[in-house]
Amino acid sequence: MDVKTKVKIGIIGGSGFDDPGLFAEQSEKVVSTPFGDPSDVILEGRLHGVPCALLARHGRKHQLQPSDVNYRANIWALKEIGCTHILATTATGSLVEEYKPGDLVILDDFIDRTWGRKCTFYDATPSGPHGVCHLGMSPAFCARARAALLQAARSRGYTTHKTGTAVVIQGPRFSSRAESLMHRQWGGHLVNMTTVPEVVLAKEAGLSYAAVALVTDYDCWRENETSVSVSEVLEMFKKNVKKAADVIIDAVQLLAADDDLSYLDQYKEQVASAIMLKE
Ligand code: ADE
Repeated sequence: MDVKTKVKIGIIGGSGFDDPGLFAEQSEKVVSTPFGDPSDVILEGRLHGVPCALLARHGRKHQLQPSDVNYRANIWALKEIGCTHILATTATGSLVEEYKPGDLVILDDFIDRTWGRKCTFYDATPSGPHGVCHLGMSPAFCARARAALLQAARSRGYTTHKTGTAVVIQGPRFSSRAESLMHRQWGGHLVNMTTVPEVVLAKEAGLSYAAVALVTDYDCWRENETSVSVSEVLEMFKKNVKKAADVIIDAVQLLAADDDLSYLDQYKEQVASAIMLKE
C-alpha cells in the first residue's frame, strides 16, 4: 500500500542495495543534468509504500573511483526527480579504538582533505544556478535524518555511534601512517573518500542529507598492525552491509511518518540567503 507522504528519499549506496527486489513498482530512469551524467541509471520504486530512488555512487559495476564520481550530477539528478532527502552509506576506516570494524556510525561532521573536486553548483555552468554560494557547513548533516538513522540502528540492536567526524581523503590510495596519525590528532574518528563533496552539494541543493558509515578497518595507525587493504574493506563491507541496508529501510519509514517537514523549507531558505548575485 502506498504511504501518504510528501517525502521522496534518495539512497546513495552500493552493493547490498542492488537487490532487484528491494523496491516495489521498480523502474529505471536515465537522468542527465547540466553537470553531466550521474554514476548510473536511477532505480525508482517504493520501500514499504514510501517513494524512493536508488543510485549506486560508483556505478552499478563499481567502475568509478572516488575522485571520478560526478557528485554534482548525482545530487542534481536526485533532486531533479523530486527527492527531498538523501540517505547514504559509506565504507570507512576507523581512527579511534572505540569505533570497531562492523560498527555503524551516524556521521555528524567532516574534514576535507580532497582536492580538485567540483564542490559547488554555483560556478556559472550553463543551465546551472546563478550567483556565488557561500554556504555554512555547521551542521553539515541533517539533524532529523541523522536522528532517524540512529533510531533505526538502535532499534535493530546494531552497535552504533551517534556521532563521528569523517576525514575525507582524495584517494584512491589509502593514507600513509604519518597521515593517519595526523588525522587522529585533528580529531577525526573515521576516514573515507566520498563524503566530500557529496554532503556539501546535498546541502547546496537544499536537501536533507545524512550518512550511515560502516566501519571496515582500522586504517594504519595502530602499532604492529598491517595497513588496511582493499580485500579487508570489501570483505567487511560485504559481511555487514545488510546492517546499513536495514537501517536505511527503517529510517525511510520514520522520515515518511513525520508531519512536520518545515526543516526542509529552512534548508532552502539557508541556501537562498547564502547566494550572492551580481548587481
Ligand atoms: N574506506 C574504507 N576504509 C578506508 C580507509 N582506511 N581509508 C580511506 N577510505 C576507506
